Amino acid sequence: MSGSGDYKLGSILLKKSEIERRIADIASEIEREYRGQEVVFTGVLKGAAIFMSDLVRAIGESVDVRMDFMAVSSYGDASTSSGVVKIVKDMDTFAEGQNVVLVEDIMDTGLTLSYLQEMIRARNPGTLRTCVLLEKPDRKKVDCEIDYKGFTIPDKFVVGYGLDYAGKWRHLPDIWCVVEA
Ligand code: IMP
Repeated sequence: MSGSGDYKLGSILLKKSEIERRIADIASEIEREYRGQEVVFTGVLKGAAIFMSDLVRAIGESVDVRMDFMAVSSYGDASTSSGVVKIVKDMDTFAEGQNVVLVEDIMDTGLTLSYLQEMIRARNPGTLRTCVLLEKPDRKKVDCEIDYKGFTIPDKFVVGYGLDYAGKWRHLPDIWCVVEA
């Protein structure tokens, strides 16, 4: 984030109840598409951990849900990034032909997601879908396909529900905008 000052919580952008309702809709869409099939939900740590845990629990037993996680290098370098993302932790297992739903907290420039999509596509999944809780369209630098999206939000830095600023506020149930302290 730009600016040299410290930040504090501003106002709530999305309440827990709104997030829950939207997740129920996304879960229904995923159930319709993957009924009777195995799907590996692959969350991008750490931001997507809370979103993914609520998402998979909203999906009924009609889908054979598996969970995996990846970790990528921090957002700190993104302003100078060429779009190359360092994989700190890869998926634990990958079988060619498997259905993958990549789960991310937020699409900002899109560099992280487009890199991960390309990397997973090169492994020949059966299907690859991308599920993002938040999208900031004003910041987009690269086109990258999103199949399931929670909310479109303005170009504001947000925290809570898994999203952090300097490691803080991931645990908050609502999503907040931050302001300069
Ligand atoms: P992108 O590669 O620019 O799309 O960046 C995606 C990553 O940037 C996300 O996974 C977040 O870790 C981080 N990020 C971008 N915007 C925000 C925000 O408003 N709050 C918290 N993290 C953010």
